[in-house]
Amino acid sequence: MVNKRVFIETYGCQMNVYDSEVVLSILGKEGFTPCGGIEEADLILVNTCSIRENAEQRVWGRLDRFLQEKKKRKVTVGVLGCMAERIRQELLSHPAVDIVAGPDTYRRLPELLRRLGAEGQKQIDTALSLKETYADIEPVRTDKNGVTSFISIMRGCNNMCTYCIVPYVRGGERSRDPRSIVKEAEKMYADGYREVNLLGQNVDSYLWKNPENPTESVNFAQLIELVALVAPDLRVRFSTSHPKDMSNGVLYSMAMYPNICTHIHLPVQSGSDRMLEKMNRKYTTAAYLERIAKIHEVVPEAAVTTDIIAGFCSETEEDHQATLELMRQVRFDSAFMFQYSQRPGTKAARHFADDVPPEVKTRRLNEIIELQSAISLERNHECIGQTYEVLIEGTSKRDSGSLFGRTSSNKVCVFPALGHRPGEYVNIKVESCTSATLLGNIV
Ligand code: 5AD
Ligand code: SF4
Repeated sequence: MVNKRVFIETYGCQMNVYDSEVVLSILGKEGFTPCGGIEEADLILVNTCSIRENAEQRVWGRLDRFLQEKKKRKVTVGVLGCMAERIRQELLSHPAVDIVAGPDTYRRLPELLRRLGAEGQKQIDTALSLKETYADIEPVRTDKNGVTSFISIMRGCNNMCTYCIVPYVRGGERSRDPRSIVKEAEKMYADGYREVNLLGQNVDSYLWKNPENPTESVNFAQLIELVALVAPDLRVRFSTSHPKDMSNGVLYSMAMYPNICTHIHLPVQSGSDRMLEKMNRKYTTAAYLERIAKIHEVVPEAAVTTDIIAGFCSETEEDHQATLELMRQVRFDSAFMFQYSQRPGTKAARHFADDVPPEVKTRRLNEIIELQSAISLERNHECIGQTYEVLIEGTSKRDSGSLFGRTSSNKVCVFPALGHRPGEYVNIKVESCTSATLLGNIV
């Protein structure tokens, strides 16, 4: 067995972070150990994202940097993930790149490496799978805190939002065997982890059918209960929920189990029904608001966060105002906000003009960000004087005498350490806040 060092750089979403851990596990069996930087690595991997153009731009810059490294010494470079799937040939033509491997081909990495060694030719595999969930692979955790980590529960996406590249680069939706998910959560708990974050592009459509007994199935509401039962002090989070699919069952599970975290990430994308239709989101603002009302009814303390896209095709000032209005109505705890970025091959790119001028997109995005910051600050202000259970994740970046952690509703809390450690639960009384952080003391 070789004894080589691998460095993997990860861009994009939490799913990619998880996939990188899967890759490290597969390569670990081949004698690769993770190292701290590209300068030490025999194998440099970059796990890429295609969601917006700027995510891809950064990777091209990194490939040029890897090429410099390659000129100095012998090192293998592989590109993984969504860009590998989307623009395989272009990537393969880059002089730094030896291997291109799509999101469903990581089990073949050892073979691709062997072939590269034997044949001296660049290797590529970007086949998508209808089955692969990497269910049996135990990821090598790369998180630094040893307290919180991710578990992928499904792969791919069947939604076909018109702006989105994901279904093209990650293939069709498939759900992972719940027994392997529970087993992974149990292992993490035994290793000291106290929070698992269940990941899927649309967790509400999780549905596993037992291949040995087709009448037996597990849906998402049932899955979170199974994971919550692993241990009462193992927190369970999940993302991302889809407004068209989020069931009341999920809310009832959340209300029933204190260790299912009271946070729902429910991307709305726009507050204009015309835009939602054009995005193929399959809900109206009225239906979205109904889901929000139900969340408040069943889990009153739940926080709701969202994603918003500014400047989608043909978006008018009126559509934009409708988004701002919806934000004022819902008062999201926080949001990820983006300018629309046309992705080649998507339905929007093929059929709709990307006709909102860049400066208008930027201005609208800035208005959205400004409004959200004010709302986030107000929301956090409402927490002052309240006491929350916080799971400690680590030492505050700004102050080594302070710790940080999260409330069940996913708000970051910073407080003096007083001898406590990551992995412990403490009760924090909130004394002050910024728009992003609660500041308080242990009580
Ligand atoms: N342009 C801008 N934002 C996008 N998103 C997805 N596709 C695009 C795109 N083409 C955003 C959506 C999604 C989040 C993960 O990224 O808001 O919810
Ligand atoms: Fe994740 Fe989507 Fe980016 Fe792929 S394109 S890494 S699925 S955010």
